[in-house]
Amino acid sequence: MRILLLGGSSFLGRAFASESLTRGHDVTTFNRGRSGTDLPGVEALRGERDSADDLARLVEGRHWDAVVDTSAQQPAQAALSARLLRAHADHYTFVSSVHAFSDWPALVVDETSPLHPCPADTPPDQPPGNPLKAGCERAVLEGFGADRTLILNSGLLIGPHENGGRLPWWLERMARGGPVLAPGDPDRAMQVIDVRDFAAFGVDVLVAGRTGRFVTTAPAGNVTFGEFLATCAEVVGEPTGAGGDVRPPAELVWVADGPLLAEGPDSVEPWSELPLWAPDVPELAGVWLADTGRARAAGLRCRPFAETARDTWAWLRQRGPAADTDADGLKGRQGAARRTGIVPAKERRLLAALA
Ligand SMILES: NC(=O)c1ccc[n+]([C@@H]2O[C@H](COP(=O)([O-])OP(=O)(O)OC[C@H]3O[C@@H](n4cnc5c(N)ncnc54)[C@H](OP(=O)(O)O)[C@@H]3O)[C@@H](O)[C@H]2O)c1
Repeated sequence: MRILLLGGSSFLGRAFASESLTRGHDVTTFNRGRSGTDLPGVEALRGERDSADDLARLVEGRHWDAVVDTSAQQPAQAALSARLLRAHADHYTFVSSVHAFSDWPALVVDETSPLHPCPADTPPDQPPGNPLKAGCERAVLEGFGADRTLILNSGLLIGPHENGGRLPWWLERMARGGPVLAPGDPDRAMQVIDVRDFAAFGVDVLVAGRTGRFVTTAPAGNVTFGEFLATCAEVVGEPTGAGGDVRPPAELVWVADGPLLAEGPDSVEPWSELPLWAPDVPELAGVWLADTGRARAAGLRCRPFAETARDTWAWLRQRGPAADTDADGLKGRQGAARRTGIVPAKERRLLAALA
């Protein structure tokens, strides 16, 4: 098949490229050449997806069997690409998110759950926000046609080349060793999918010409937070090189949600300061409980978390520190407007006060 990836060079798009090439498909990637490198073997085309001229140049004289759009965040972007690709591709897979559902993260969601009421013609350049993916979905369906469109609502993605700094942050924190602030309840069931499993499923269903919608993530409870952190600690503690580079062990120190959320200068921000920490509060009751029955029935298979953690650590070791990592091991995200990870001095203060 001829497959066009709108994006394709960073994380999930890269995994789609890799999976498609492995299966012998012809892959074109379209991106600006900023976020990553295109895999050898793809036809890499440069352009700005917000530009009608760049998209017109992309499609001129070309036709693809399938488009995979991992990069639209704004309804206006999705509307433009769906409209311009309508006559140049047979099938459109749009990677959306569980964020598109208005009930998430408070309630369990499935393919029938209501979407946020964001319209397809939302003006461009909106500030980031959960409802935008719902507008993107509507724009693709309107522009390309529901009979040729597949929507994949992704849950939390992890794995090699991760660009969100969640699993990498925990692995790097464990590698620094010593007492590690482990937030919340170790028995809290999570739901995290390896990006390679997502891409394998995505290629399966697009090759089969499936349409409609799949909530695509691991089965609820595929790992607990306690297993997640313990596995991260174990993986970085393993000898990794010819020199048998064994690191000092990380020691998990569990602190309940309540004291970490308490008002004050050392209150901890869930999710970003301690990545993936979702306190057990009603507003987040469904965060790790999306119903994946339809995707599993269609063939979605998920590898054990330990394999993802090991492979991601191997990738991090090979890559070295990210370009945007500062002296505290914190990472800039989205143009450094937000940061991932707790400041070490704050972590030490909290451990001394609460452990
Ligand atoms: N990470 C998660 O846990 C999670 C959860 C739910 C849903 N999702 C969704 O899954 C998708 C995964 O994204 P990804 O980063 O892994 O995909 P990706 O395709 O690997 O990376 C994004 C690509 O889009 C390109 N791009 C970005 N803006 C562009 C523009 N204006 N014009 C042209 N190309 C542009 C980037 O390259 P250049 O910057 O070089 O142009 C890059 O190749 C996203 O839609 C995200 O919302 C992710």
